[in-house]
Amino acid sequence: MCGIIGYIGSRSCLDIVFDGLKRLEYRGYDSAGIAVLHDRHISITKEAGKIDNLKPFLSQLPAAAQIGIGHTRWATHGTPTKENAHPHISDRLALIHNGIIENYRELKQELQDKGVTFRSETDTEVIAHLLGQELKGGTHPQEALMRVIQRLEGAFSLALITDQDDQHIYLAKQGSPLVIGLGQNENFFGSDITAFVSYTQKAVFLHDGECASVGRNEVKLWNREGQELPLKTTVLQWSPGSADKQGYRHYMLKEIHEQPRVISKTTQAFAPEGVLNHEALGLNSIQLEKVKSIHIVACGTAYYAGMVAKYFMEPALGLPVNVELASEFRYRDPLLMGQGQTLVMAISQSGETADTLASLKLAKDKGCQIFSICNVAYSSIHRESHGSILMHAGPEIGVASTKAFTSQVLCAYFWSMAAAEKLGRLSAKDKEARLQELKSLPLYMDQALNAEEHIAELANSLYEYPNFLFVGRGPNFIIALEGALKLKEISYIHAEGYAAGELKHGPIALIDKHMPIVAIAPHDAYYEKTLSNIEEIRAREGFVIGIGDEKDSRLRDLSQLYIPTPKMNNPYFQAILATVAVQFLAYYIAIKRGTDVDQPRNLAKSVTVE
Ligand code: M6R
Repeated sequence: MCGIIGYIGSRSCLDIVFDGLKRLEYRGYDSAGIAVLHDRHISITKEAGKIDNLKPFLSQLPAAAQIGIGHTRWATHGTPTKENAHPHISDRLALIHNGIIENYRELKQELQDKGVTFRSETDTEVIAHLLGQELKGGTHPQEALMRVIQRLEGAFSLALITDQDDQHIYLAKQGSPLVIGLGQNENFFGSDITAFVSYTQKAVFLHDGECASVGRNEVKLWNREGQELPLKTTVLQWSPGSADKQGYRHYMLKEIHEQPRVISKTTQAFAPEGVLNHEALGLNSIQLEKVKSIHIVACGTAYYAGMVAKYFMEPALGLPVNVELASEFRYRDPLLMGQGQTLVMAISQSGETADTLASLKLAKDKGCQIFSICNVAYSSIHRESHGSILMHAGPEIGVASTKAFTSQVLCAYFWSMAAAEKLGRLSAKDKEARLQELKSLPLYMDQALNAEEHIAELANSLYEYPNFLFVGRGPNFIIALEGALKLKEISYIHAEGYAAGELKHGPIALIDKHMPIVAIAPHDAYYEKTLSNIEEIRAREGFVIGIGDEKDSRLRDLSQLYIPTPKMNNPYFQAILATVAVQFLAYYIAIKRGTDVDQPRNLAKSVTVE
């Protein structure tokens, strides 16, 4: 959702800001804009649609400008038009904003009563005018920012340039992410590190309530009360090239292919030489012995990773595990035990999902222990947690989550094993057997990736169907949900995932020869039951695309189209292999339909507003 990038230094800022916007493209947006400050004059260009729409207008901005801010907007208040795109201007300033101002109506009325004219329908413009009024009255920009943010309700990260000060960019953060990148005689900032990681790996993460002034050679940070704060610098682990496409047609395809490596790195990090690393798995930061129940909270694909985790975590730990959508959890007054007896575990690739973060804060206020599995280090969710696991997936840029899902399931699996070990519920023999199979998972994953060409071929006969069903049982019920989500989000085909055993309770009415049903049925404990369901589908002329074991002739015979996966004994690893098949299926169907795979319409990679 909305992306922010900014630069101040001794180079021309135009290319840096434009490049930063392109790197933030993955977050999802529908308009973009840039403002630069040069010779005490602010110049702006903004357009609806793609960032590239700005290109013809860049030459109208002063090429020598060394101070610039850029923004990608994901519309919340007001349609995606040029007028509503950021930066917004007022007297002598330009402003960009990520977040939502909840009390903007009252503030807008107040400003209109004073004769202020609004040019857009956005909530952001009220901030620009409030600041404009302060600056007009001679207030220093830093003081103006402090005063204005005290009047704002909601979430924001803001960046402000003003012709009153050509040595600084001013920032403020509350609820939405903002991070500063420290360079040599130049500094950067962004909504996330991908905006500037190719220039510097030294970063300062802003906390809620903090403001900053960013100059060429110095960065100052202060809190709500105006006290200056020390800068806490973090050295980023992501290498500059890790966020590039590396020759793949799409980030999503690259990220699907990265999964074997992600699995190897995860295993190396959490079980080097067969010993579970309790420290890296965050177990040393929580009091497991106190825990009587676990709530997993997450959204979208991360929620499905949590649902898979429930299947193995509950029996491993002998504790009830509830999995809940964060957007529901945070508003329903959940029954949570204080004094650390409930452990609330957030799963989030970005670590910035607004509902997941709010759920954690709520649980923290109620005295729960809070834990997270995140891919982005120092993200808000990671920082909010008592204990955490950092995934080893590397940057995930494609909006459709692929390698993050695999990694989340595996992190939860390692955590569950180590927690069981700590509780004395994991025998050495069992541990050894599981770790042994985990070691071979990347190889099996490589084999699963070999099905790519075959699946691409199948997509040719599938891409015109308007509806799909995905079915499975046990962990593969969750993979069915995930497969349906992948197909929906990147191909815009309507798809539903169902537990195969639920078909008779309603969805079977949808089945006829025009309905493709992706049936995931490896040879596991659920196999016979699922096969009966598939027989029922065939009896109603349903069009079955089977995903199952390479050597399984029964499922193959029942299926009109078949995607073989290698055979593993552990049902959760087997489910991970089936995930590759549904990821490719969604990808190649989307390719045939010509959609924007990495940035599907209306979607944002990181949902930082609720
Ligand atoms: O960053 P998070 O893992 O918290 O994001 C959660 C969801 O927004 C995300 O998984 C979303 O559902 C993906 N686009 C699915 O592919």
